[in-house]
Amino acid sequence: MKLKYFSHSAFQITTDDNKVILIDPFLDDNPTSPVKSKEVRADYIILSHAHGDHIGDTFKIAGPQTTIICVDELANICASKGFKAHNMHIGGGHDYDFGRVKLTIAHHGSKTTDGEYAGEPAGIIITIKNRSIYHTGDTALFYDMKLIGEMTKIDYMLLPIGDNYTMGINDAVKAVELVKPGLAIPMHYNTFPVIKADPEVFKKKVEEKGYKCRVMKFGEEIEL
Ligand code: NI
Ligand code: MN
Repeated sequence: MKLKYFSHSAFQITTDDNKVILIDPFLDDNPTSPVKSKEVRADYIILSHAHGDHIGDTFKIAGPQTTIICVDELANICASKGFKAHNMHIGGGHDYDFGRVKLTIAHHGSKTTDGEYAGEPAGIIITIKNRSIYHTGDTALFYDMKLIGEMTKIDYMLLPIGDNYTMGINDAVKAVELVKPGLAIPMHYNTFPVIKADPEVFKKKVEEKGYKCRVMKFGEEIEL
């Protein structure tokens, strides 16, 4: 499978049989994304929470064949707009045709840009053919990340380092130590001045703790 990083918290997973899964597709209003919404398609869109920089272009990209996966309250908002949604909730997992999705806790908020309450924010664990990707969503550092890493062997951890709204670099390094992923990939930085952070500093600190880190370029795609 392939993992593409658009920038911010927006990723695309393409499975070996060409299913396309987008996570938090914030593209058109994202000054750092080299890819815009009209250039992508999705079989599934997984949303961590309802903030505008995460729902992003979901309603432009989703077609009749696209399933939006997220917590119940946000899924109901998507369904009320005529989109196909699969309601889940935190702690629950579900097997889809591409693999398994489990939602975890995340410490953050979640309202739509219209101010509508959209349930709790979530982290996302996606398991495809025995490999697991943990996209933490927007979150503070929390000690239960240790439990997440114990319950699921995390191969790839995608986590925010931009500070202000989420973990900054030092908290994110501790999060890596708690989860013990095979590879840490920083996200949610340098999109706006307020979340400016140097991913190379994060990488250096992660490596000093004995873990691997890859700083993906905005628009880069790697084979997992
Ligand atoms: Ni947010
Ligand atoms: Mn955010």
